[in-house]
Amino acid sequence: MLSELKENTPSASYWKDDRYFVLDQLLLPQEVKYIECRKPLDIVKAIVDMNLRGAPLIGAAASAAAALFFLETSKENGSSFYELTEMLFNTRPTAVNLKNVLSESILIFEKNIGNSSNEKMFEIFRNFSIEVHRRDKERNYIMGEKGAHFISDMMKNRKINVLTHCNAGALATCGYGTALGVVRSLHSKGLINNVWIDETRPYLQGSRITAFEMEKESIPHKIITDSSAAWIMHKKLVDVIVVGADRVALNGDIANKIGSYSLAVNAKYHGIPFISVMPVETFDMETADGSHIVIEERSDKELLMFNGKTTSPQGSTGYHIGFDVVPSSLINAIVTEKGVAESNITAEKIRGIFYG
Ligand code: MRU
Repeated sequence: MLSELKENTPSASYWKDDRYFVLDQLLLPQEVKYIECRKPLDIVKAIVDMNLRGAPLIGAAASAAAALFFLETSKENGSSFYELTEMLFNTRPTAVNLKNVLSESILIFEKNIGNSSNEKMFEIFRNFSIEVHRRDKERNYIMGEKGAHFISDMMKNRKINVLTHCNAGALATCGYGTALGVVRSLHSKGLINNVWIDETRPYLQGSRITAFEMEKESIPHKIITDSSAAWIMHKKLVDVIVVGADRVALNGDIANKIGSYSLAVNAKYHGIPFISVMPVETFDMETADGSHIVIEERSDKELLMFNGKTTSPQGSTGYHIGFDVVPSSLINAIVTEKGVAESNITAEKIRGIFYG
């Protein structure tokens, strides 16, 4: 099934022998250039600096960092594997996929470290990392199909206008994408009229990265400023809103790129379905509800500048939060590789559908 997938979008990352290559997303769409990572810290830096981003991709890259650790460490004097996992864990606090991959990595480490050389550990972790990438792409394809089926039924098989925020595509994952996987699947069925893309200030993941993907796949799209979304809904130009998620709490609240909450509030007001798409890995069964999700705060410099130039008065400061939380009461459906949970999402429903 996966082998039949044709994508024109370049891979967000890949392994070549003992090197891990990361597409430098800060250069998109002007340049398609990869960063060669030989050391775990190369990957840590790429995550912190936003060269690579997107919840599932951050998790997958962490598995590659775990593998590279064994190329530069001798068992006698090397820094601790636990220090590396701790450092990776602290790079981006909101997305939970990272934590889940790191927990898996620690289990693999503890199972094998006693009786394996560093060469063997590298091989074990590289294989694990390749599997993390493979399974992510596979489940994206499955949820893309499930989500497209759900939406096309809801829209009675007519061509639709989708609005999306940030980038939840092939470049936020290991291929195909979550929210954009659904868009890709809808497009392959001839059901996309237009994709409205929020530009997503300040990193412009929408106008740079989502638009890049849509253009590569020849999917009709139009970029809008974030503040245009409500008016476009009012004008009845949006049939459905489809976004990804960085973390889902036990009660179905989701954390996603800042701006998702205001889209959901506006969607409710205008009677437009708001749908979030994510792998089950994005569920955090240790977090009761959205109020407990740690929201990443970034430097206000990123907000006060545009294209490398300061755009605000010298004395001004800003408040730059990377994510917000959409309460489950504003979400019409959650789509995963295991199935779709419709309205009135509750912890019981989540447990039943996704963990049953
Ligand atoms: O700050 P980013 O670019 O890492 O934020 C990405 C998002 O918010 C995505 O919507 C989310 O990670 C889901 S990606 C499949």
